[in-house]
Amino acid sequence: MEKHLEEFFPPGTAENDLFARLDPGRLPRHVAVIMDGNGRWAKGRGLDRVEGHKAGAAAVKEITEAAARLGIGWLTLFAFSSENWKRPRAEVGSLWRLLRLHLGSDLELLTRNDLRLRVIGRRDGIPGPALKELERVEALTAGNRRMTVVFALNYGGRADIVDAARRLLAEGGVDPSRLDEETFAARLSTAGIPDPDLLIRTSGEMRLSNFLLWQMAYTEIHVTPVLWPDFGRRHLLEALLDFQGRERRFGDVGAAVKHAGQRT
Ligand code: IPE
Ligand code: IPE
Ligand code: MG
Repeated sequence: MEKHLEEFFPPGTAENDLFARLDPGRLPRHVAVIMDGNGRWAKGRGLDRVEGHKAGAAAVKEITEAAARLGIGWLTLFAFSSENWKRPRAEVGSLWRLLRLHLGSDLELLTRNDLRLRVIGRRDGIPGPALKELERVEALTAGNRRMTVVFALNYGGRADIVDAARRLLAEGGVDPSRLDEETFAARLSTAGIPDPDLLIRTSGEMRLSNFLLWQMAYTEIHVTPVLWPDFGRRHLLEALLDFQGRERRFGDVGAAVKHAGQRT
């Protein structure tokens, strides 16, 4: 094992056993995460929900670094949905404040690991001070190559699709009969980002909650009961192993059926 990975998954640990079972040649290129359960984590400890978000921020750093070291190319983190504005004002304020406060140390982590930040979601709704800091970190890390960390902020899958339609209409000149999926996808906020191969949702909820609706047409879904602040390297490895056990068919028949068919 390479030294930098040994540090992360030390020999003799459960993480190391899981890591040994991974096929490095079949890792998902893009992992998307619905980081859910911060509130329940805090409640279970008799704490304010904000404490759950603080603990969740630490998990973000841990998983970002682990994903980069494993060789994942794109990591998208759903951090604030277009529906999360419905929450109490104080919680919404704390979430954006926490994000802004963490961006300084995030920049250090991104730079140290050669990671690039990209933000998706409606920027015009993001509070000014947070947006300014986000755009600063995006600009400073734009040249980094090892992995792209995509923060989904004020993001909604439906809004993303509507915005893409608006862009197309505003550009004009598109012949409706010539509009194809590729042309449309290039107007989404995820333009240039491959579709997620794996979606991880923590806290056991079996729903998409308006995340990457267009992009997840053929994404493999891994739901774990673990609450986001408790989600660590071990859980990431478990999700990757679950992914490697899937057969992705994309509407075709399975490989076994196909090969049997070719023999007849
Ligand atoms: C996820 O945790 C963080 C955000 C949505 C910002 P929640 O805050 O949704 O936690 P639960 O689902 O209430 O436990
Ligand atoms: C999804 O979680 C959004 C984020 C993780 C940012 P929610 O907690 O908002 O989802 P619902 O309301 O349970 O569907
Ligand atoms: Mg939730």
